Amino acid sequence: MNPEIVAIRGLIAVAVGVGVLLGVAGTFLYQQFLPEERRMLHQREFAPQHRTVAEMRNQPDAQGKKSGRRSVFQKAKRKSLSTTETEVVTGIDQQSAVETNDDDDDDEFFDCSDENNVETETDPRLAKLLDKVDILFKGTVECNKTAYSLLLQLKDQYADKVNVLWRLAKASHIMGTVYGEEGDNDKKKEFLFEGFGFAKRALELDESHPEAHKWFAITVGARGEFLSLPEKIEGGSLFKEHVDKALALQPYDPSLHHLLGRFKYEVANLSWIERKVAGVICAEPPTATYPEAVNHCLEAEYLSPTPWKENRLLLAKCHFNQGSVSR
Ligand SMILES: *[C@@H]1O[C@H](CO)[C@@H](O)[C@H](O)[C@H]1NC(C)=O
Ligand SMILES: *[C@@H]1O[C@H](CO)[C@@H](O)[C@H](O)[C@H]1NC(C)=O
Repeated sequence: MNPEIVAIRGLIAVAVGVGVLLGVAGTFLYQQFLPEERRMLHQREFAPQHRTVAEMRNQPDAQGKKSGRRSVFQKAKRKSLSTTETEVVTGIDQQSAVETNDDDDDDEFFDCSDENNVETETDPRLAKLLDKVDILFKGTVECNKTAYSLLLQLKDQYADKVNVLWRLAKASHIMGTVYGEEGDNDKKKEFLFEGFGFAKRALELDESHPEAHKWFAITVGARGEFLSLPEKIEGGSLFKEHVDKALALQPYDPSLHHLLGRFKYEVANLSWIERKVAGVICAEPPTATYPEAVNHCLEAEYLSPTPWKENRLLLAKCHFNQGSVSR
């Protein structure tokens, strides 16, 4: 085939690949809320006595949050990164099994979501309001909208608070996603871009804030579907850069490992010719392998408080493609 045509087809594939990646990063955060709800439902159905625990855990109790974070840390240390793949896979099954058990590990399944901010808010009034926002984020669409307007009000008083700004980025992102699902693409775009603006501002104020990096990465990714190809590709490396930075600051956040796994999967899936084309567009095209993607998925699975369907699906896709590549 004419090499030029190959290159053009490659180019399209890169666009699609990166577009898929960034689009997925966009919807991903939406889905992130679902495991929480699935778990609640599960507990309601199968273990009514857990319900009170769940509800107690959802109270804005700073003490509970602190101990939760600690136990996540211990858990993460217990299940070290260096285990082999088979061990890891067994580990996952054990984790699902453990989940229905009534041992003290249960605590960990409530408190290690990324909603638990590492930050300490010194202003007690703001701290209380932010707790409220975090609870609203776990609720229905209406709750999400309330969270968004509450944050907008807070922004008037606390314009330079990173704690407020990254949550605003998240809230705008959620709003954009909700409008997108309703088919309102203009509103979607408006909110996604607004979210990016808030995340950018948050990062400018505090370069060492993991949530600011995370939401910057996500909002960069989500914007991708409205951008040109070179911008998309640039967005891809920006996405990676800030997920990496967030991970360095918050290594036990399962959602960050999942995002990185997804990124590596998409990049590993590019053919060599597509990679070459990407190399023409940006100086340092990303490189990644399926085993790398697998490792991040496994890590996400470990750290996730619940079995995570989307993550397992991605893991399966990695394994499947790895098999067909090495054949
Ligand atoms: C917002 O509302 C939806 C729909 O009720 C809910 O499932 C979700 O947990 C909330 N968060 C996001 C990100 O949509
Ligand atoms: C990309 O993914 C598809 C779908 O799973 C697969 O058929 C193809 O072989 C993959 N390409 C590479 C280079 O891994």
